[in-house]
Amino acid sequence: MALLELKNVKKAFGNVMALEGIDLEVNKGEIVGIVGPNGSGKTTLLHVISGYYHATEGQVIYKGQNISGLRPDKIAAKGIVRTFQQNMVYWDTVTLENVFRACYLSDKTNLWQSFWGTKPYVQEEMAKLTKSVEIVDTFGLSDYSLFPAAGLPHGKQRTLGMAMALASDPELLLIDEPLAGMDAGEVEIVLNCIRKIVDKGVTIMLIEHNIKSVMSICSRLIVLDFGHKIADGKPVEVMKRKDVIEAYLGVE
Ligand SMILES: Nc1ncnc2c1ncn2[C@@H]1O[C@H](COP(=O)(O)OP(=O)(O)OP(=O)(O)O)[C@@H](O)[C@H]1O
Ligand SMILES: [Mg+2]
Repeated sequence: MALLELKNVKKAFGNVMALEGIDLEVNKGEIVGIVGPNGSGKTTLLHVISGYYHATEGQVIYKGQNISGLRPDKIAAKGIVRTFQQNMVYWDTVTLENVFRACYLSDKTNLWQSFWGTKPYVQEEMAKLTKSVEIVDTFGLSDYSLFPAAGLPHGKQRTLGMAMALASDPELLLIDEPLAGMDAGEVEIVLNCIRKIVDKGVTIMLIEHNIKSVMSICSRLIVLDFGHKIADGKPVEVMKRKDVIEAYLGVE
């Protein structure tokens, strides 16, 4: 069974059809690149999966369960997480604490336990702290552990967003244009972060305009054009296709 399946998903904004009957499957362990020209429906697709938008028609099925229409927090609780946007970072707080707080999104202990400081609660806290230190280390942020997030260099701030995403224990991580506005060095850092997340067994759907990077990291590419899925397959084969090249170049 596919981890995620979309069946005939359509999304309309008034007269604009942002998605026109999308069928797709994502299997566990894949890194699926979502590419296509501006306005082709990529972000809308991820929003429909995360519950931020609801499909006008069709179904989003996660691990065999129809999740269309569920609220974003309910979908996140099932393991579908979007990378942390800048507005989810606590800027006045240090790197390590940001990662530690993100661990709480997958929290299993209840309020009663935290209130009384029960043994399971204290053990969970210690486990979260250890996990946070490990993640900070994995992402090359150890030297910045006690730096306020606001004072981090730009590339490290992006890395922190990735570290927080991993801390929240996603099964399926949705990433929208992680490389936008980055220099070559920062691009390499973020690509390495994504590889590390995949090594932990997380499945990824990644929107990115940087085709070279997408091809270096993705196991499969899905191409959207005017809300239609026009290609789905191995990156090298997909990018050779005439219709894909034409969609990119805007040739009739
Ligand atoms: N909230 C909205 N209200 C109205 N129209 C929208 C909304 N969100 C997206 N659209 C429209 O839906 C279409 C697809 O937009 P979307 O943002 O999904 O494209 P995209 O592929 O992510 O583009 P980009 O590469 O520029 O980020 C566009 O025509 C866009 O104008
Ligand atoms: Mg977009």
